[in-house]
Amino acid sequence: MSAVVAVSNLVVSYGMDDGEVFAVDGVDLDIVPGESVGIVGESGSGKSTLGMAIGRLLAPNARFLGGEIRVARRSILSCPAAELRQVRRDSLGFVYQNPMSALDPTLRVGRQVALAIGERAGPAEIEALLGRVGLPDPARVAAGFAHELSGGMAQRVVIALAIARNPAVLIADEPTASLDASIQGVILDLLAALRRDTGASLILLSHDLRMVARRCERLLVMYGGRVVESGPSGRVFHHPRHPYTRALIRAAAGNEGPGGMLEPIPGVPPVLRRSSPDCAFAERCEFAQPRCRQERPAVHRVDGREVACHYATSELIRADRASAAPA
Ligand SMILES: Nc1ncnc2c1ncn2[C@@H]1O[C@H](COP(=O)(O)OP(=O)(O)OP(=O)(O)O)[C@@H](O)[C@H]1O
Ligand SMILES: [Mg+2]
Repeated sequence: MSAVVAVSNLVVSYGMDDGEVFAVDGVDLDIVPGESVGIVGESGSGKSTLGMAIGRLLAPNARFLGGEIRVARRSILSCPAAELRQVRRDSLGFVYQNPMSALDPTLRVGRQVALAIGERAGPAEIEALLGRVGLPDPARVAAGFAHELSGGMAQRVVIALAIARNPAVLIADEPTASLDASIQGVILDLLAALRRDTGASLILLSHDLRMVARRCERLLVMYGGRVVESGPSGRVFHHPRHPYTRALIRAAAGNEGPGGMLEPIPGVPPVLRRSSPDCAFAERCEFAQPRCRQERPAVHRVDGREVACHYATSELIRADRASAAPA
């Protein structure tokens, strides 16, 4: 099946006064119609940069240094502005972390929905869309302003805006991070139901590996701007191969050991000032060998997933204790 989003060898940096920060450092990602893909990694691993790059929606200091992005077969990095706007409107729907800042505080909700639908949407269409995302009393919501909504209701409105034109792909960046725990599952259920109903693909970006593994068919683990492991969620989560994936799972809530303690990953993620010529995780990796600090690992296909580690197939890593996460 042809990919609805095709990212190849993407490199993105941000210009700073004192140089550059490499946020995405050679990422390949194909999304086929209808699939759900979770992208996980610690803060700063490049998840949002990758997600927003798909719509060329990055901060003004971002620079595309290499690679290609195609959405619905159009080249996002080289198409003219008018075509880019059309691709964003028709093919992509974005759901952000903070619904309040994603909504316009000065426009009535109904007006924002009408603008998202386009082509002079009337009250019936506006209310039908607000109803589809589970908002009770859509007419009242449409007549009000964002500040009158709870966080969960506001996120439903943002999701309504995202699906207004039946996009091929929904990109949700930490869509529940700012919401009460009680509403998080409901919003994720809504995204799943809409994906099922519309046939859209879902890209879910989050630091919460357990949640993403449960919610998505495929999992990509990012570290230092690269994808270090990717494959079917169950396989990656229960039988991780990359040392970083293993460390991330050991550090994830729900995997507390004796005494209720989690095992944090020692050290901090890197801020890359250049495209790294080696394995970006080497400094924190319990298995690191001299080669890891000298040579960028190729991607190996192992046991039904792809792993960017020199020792992906080696006994060194296979014999590790954390070979499986509890269900
Ligand atoms: N506008 C910007 N200017 C400079 N550096 C930036 C900018 N946006 C992001 N970065 C840097 O790029 C790197 C990747 O950031 P990004 O926001 O993509 O990571 P993330 O995985 O989404 O993190 P988080 O989990 O905190 O949302 C980080 O080092 C970050 O500090
Ligand atoms: Mg982010």
